[in-house]
Amino acid sequence: MARPIVILCVLFAFANAKHFSPRDLIDEATRQLEELKQIVHGDILVAHDDLSDLVIAFKTYADTNQKQAIVAVQQEAQSIDSQLQTVKDLGHAAGVDISSCINVREPLLRKLPGHYAQAISNCTYGLDGEADAIAHNARYIVDVTINQVHRLELELENCKGEILCISPLITEIELNKIRLPQNIKTEVQATQSVLTTLRISVQACGNDNVAQYTTEASSILNDIINCVDRLLP
Ligand SMILES: *[C@@H]1O[C@H](CO)[C@@H](O)[C@H](O)[C@H]1NC(C)=O
Repeated sequence: MARPIVILCVLFAFANAKHFSPRDLIDEATRQLEELKQIVHGDILVAHDDLSDLVIAFKTYADTNQKQAIVAVQQEAQSIDSQLQTVKDLGHAAGVDISSCINVREPLLRKLPGHYAQAISNCTYGLDGEADAIAHNARYIVDVTINQVHRLELELENCKGEILCISPLITEIELNKIRLPQNIKTEVQATQSVLTTLRISVQACGNDNVAQYTTEASSILNDIINCVDRLLP
């Protein structure tokens, strides 16, 4: 009596295993895949926010830098202007007409601060555009991460319940739970790094133009001074 029961039990277990195992495996794969999708989807949304924040931080930095540089040009211009006034006063005190020295040069001198402020703004505006493009590109790379999940979904579908097909797929899904969030994080970090480097260019927009303005304005002022020097008795 005991023997047939044991055999029956074994048969039943075997049948059960044959019947339920692939189903369980499919369920497990589907569950894991759904989990992976949730994780990746959430990480993509977080990455969008992070990328936006990075661009905003960059543009805030660029804007502050631009304003400071324009102020620096204006301060330099005031110094140049007061030196020009001194030269004019000198000519006036000596009773010398210095108009031939300043006729062309003074208007030129007065145009420079506006020109360089514009150059600083143009330069900064270009870098803002670069930052946008970099973040846009990163966002695309982050977004297409979801394609990996879709690929796995398709592969699971194509397995058609085959254990030998599903088993390695589950491993791959588990692997991607680590890999895909890491890829997204890496992309955001790379963007942060590039935008940090781009801040050097923002500084250059200001520093280079302030320096160029100073050089050019000083040169014109020197021409005026030398010209007036020759006219003074
Ligand atoms: C700034 O950009 C404007 C528009 O592109 C251009 O017309 C102007 O010449 C630029 N100015 C300087 C100083 O670069």
